[in-house]
Amino acid sequence: MTVPAAIDLSAYLAQQEKKSLLRFLTCGSVDDGKSTLIGRLLYDSKLLFDDHLAALKKDSRKHGTTGGDIDFALLVDGLEAEREQGITIDVAYRFFATDRRKFIVADTPGHEQYTRNMATGASNSELAVILIDARKGVLTQTRRHAYIASLLGIRHVVLAVNKIDLVAFSQTTFEAIVAEFRDFAARLGFQSLVSIPISARFGDNVIALSARTPWYRGPALLDHLETVDVETALADKPFRMPVQWVNRPNLDFRGYSGTIVGGRIRAGDSIVVAKSGRASKVSRIVTMDGDLDEAVAGEAVTLTLADEIDISRGDLLASPTARPEVSDQFAAHILWMAEEEMLPGRQYLMKIGARTVPVSISELKHKVDVNTLEHLAGKTLHLNEVGYSNIYAAQPIAFDSYGENRDTGGFILIDRFTNGTVAAGMIDFGLRRATNVHWQALDINKNARSELKGQKPAVLWFTGLSGSGKSTIANLVEKTLFAQGRHTYLLDGDNVRHGLNKDLGFTDADRVENIRRVAETARLFADAGLIVLVSFISPFRSERRMARDLLPPGEFIEVFVDTPLEVCMQRDPKGLYQKARTGEIRNFTGIDSPYEPPENAEITLHTTEATPDQLAQQIVEWLRARTIVP
Ligand code: ADX
Repeated sequence: MTVPAAIDLSAYLAQQEKKSLLRFLTCGSVDDGKSTLIGRLLYDSKLLFDDHLAALKKDSRKHGTTGGDIDFALLVDGLEAEREQGITIDVAYRFFATDRRKFIVADTPGHEQYTRNMATGASNSELAVILIDARKGVLTQTRRHAYIASLLGIRHVVLAVNKIDLVAFSQTTFEAIVAEFRDFAARLGFQSLVSIPISARFGDNVIALSARTPWYRGPALLDHLETVDVETALADKPFRMPVQWVNRPNLDFRGYSGTIVGGRIRAGDSIVVAKSGRASKVSRIVTMDGDLDEAVAGEAVTLTLADEIDISRGDLLASPTARPEVSDQFAAHILWMAEEEMLPGRQYLMKIGARTVPVSISELKHKVDVNTLEHLAGKTLHLNEVGYSNIYAAQPIAFDSYGENRDTGGFILIDRFTNGTVAAGMIDFGLRRATNVHWQALDINKNARSELKGQKPAVLWFTGLSGSGKSTIANLVEKTLFAQGRHTYLLDGDNVRHGLNKDLGFTDADRVENIRRVAETARLFADAGLIVLVSFISPFRSERRMARDLLPPGEFIEVFVDTPLEVCMQRDPKGLYQKARTGEIRNFTGIDSPYEPPENAEITLHTTEATPDQLAQQIVEWLRARTIVP
């Protein structure tokens, strides 16, 4: 084995730099011989040990993207954004090189519970080696691996039919397996599919063709990996560069820094800011090693422009002749990566390129059974499930379809409270409907309406357990305000659920939608100039936050009716706790459905220490003190 411990690493990397790089993924389980195969590939090539990689990692941190370190960055790339998120999804990357090519292998566990790991590895790979045990043939997991690989944009596949020695090197067995796999894979849009009978254990057809399979004419696996043309031709695609930051060290220099993710750019080329359509020409392409005449996909550069145009971090610079789509709605595949289920209607943060925008997922169109590709009906997604859905963004974003460009069409979703990565997504196409719908400026506006009423609009949002006293107190507050001539409206959960929301039950997904609708309604009523009282359990922080964000600062007043569960259970005004305890009703808040108490409510009421009248008075005083009511 060649152990490069003693060699000069930077010289080694400089030499490696010149070779083309193939990033591939191995799929299969240990039983299929995956480790043996990887071991064998590494055995016959120059292997970098893990501790060397660790040392390199430190180096690349210190020196940034210079010289040979560029390669290392690729080694540990993973889902870039995901690493920034601090999530460690276990994917082992190994580096090796032969005289013809260098390789990065992403090695992920094969079981279904590791689907997200596989997706992480696949998102960075150009080719997948799918291992099959010749004795077992095409299994459910083989199909899943092929599907996830295709979903994550892999276009080249090697079907490695392993343990061919254990089926007596049978051509018939091999061909039957290949035929079955081809039949399935026909739907997945692979550009190349090469099937190879191998024995990882004995080396047949791994490094060299084997005399024991005279009926197989080649290529051997390594030979194929060394020569397969996976040039995604990123450099030939339209120019794309997400602006990672605006580089402005002094008044004389203003540059836009980022990594080119599609096409090439030369000094003098025209560019356009995808979203605003503003155009300019590239003056200089600046790098740490001096100015370049031309830069291509994969390179990190700083561009200076001929004109001062408005560009900020997150903008996508593009070729003016092939502009990306811009929309606030699109259809996408989503692979759910979190323990908590996906909730349609909930807001997540979408990180796409260098931008982060709030989005929500509308109703799922379907789930995909990752083992059979069947479309299944479903309302939510659980860990490792794949679905297809429309996504709505709070602002328009610029993107390409994932099939066109994995960097401008791929995204991750982040939970707004835990900050964890919850999903990986692949944009399919933009939906143009919303871009035709513009906000109408009306002559009579919120100000005019509220002035006529002699009040400031506000939303008093009462949250708390069932039986905590929300409706009782809200009702008293409304009576007081009404008596003082204020214009009010009380939206009560039980009542709204009889009409607008009568199609909704009490699953997490339904509660999210329940609150989304009532929050939108409250916003409209506030726009009408009213003082709105909302009395809903509204158990989730995310949705209360969403409601808050719909209104201008100061207009949303969260009132936490903080009554201990035991007290609510004792009061049990509707007898529902009793029913929940005996299992007669399910998903009851506080019993078998969660309540997330507010952390920063404007007003907290302790109902065990004061009467409802006193608490209502407390709220009216609060409003007066802030001149919301006179
Ligand atoms: S929320 O969680 O979606 O905000 P909402 O305030 O609309 O709930 O409705 C809560 C009311 O529905 C309760 O006050 C209670 O009368 C009734 N209810 C019926 N089933 C349930 C349940 N499983 N969980 C909570 N409330 C329920």
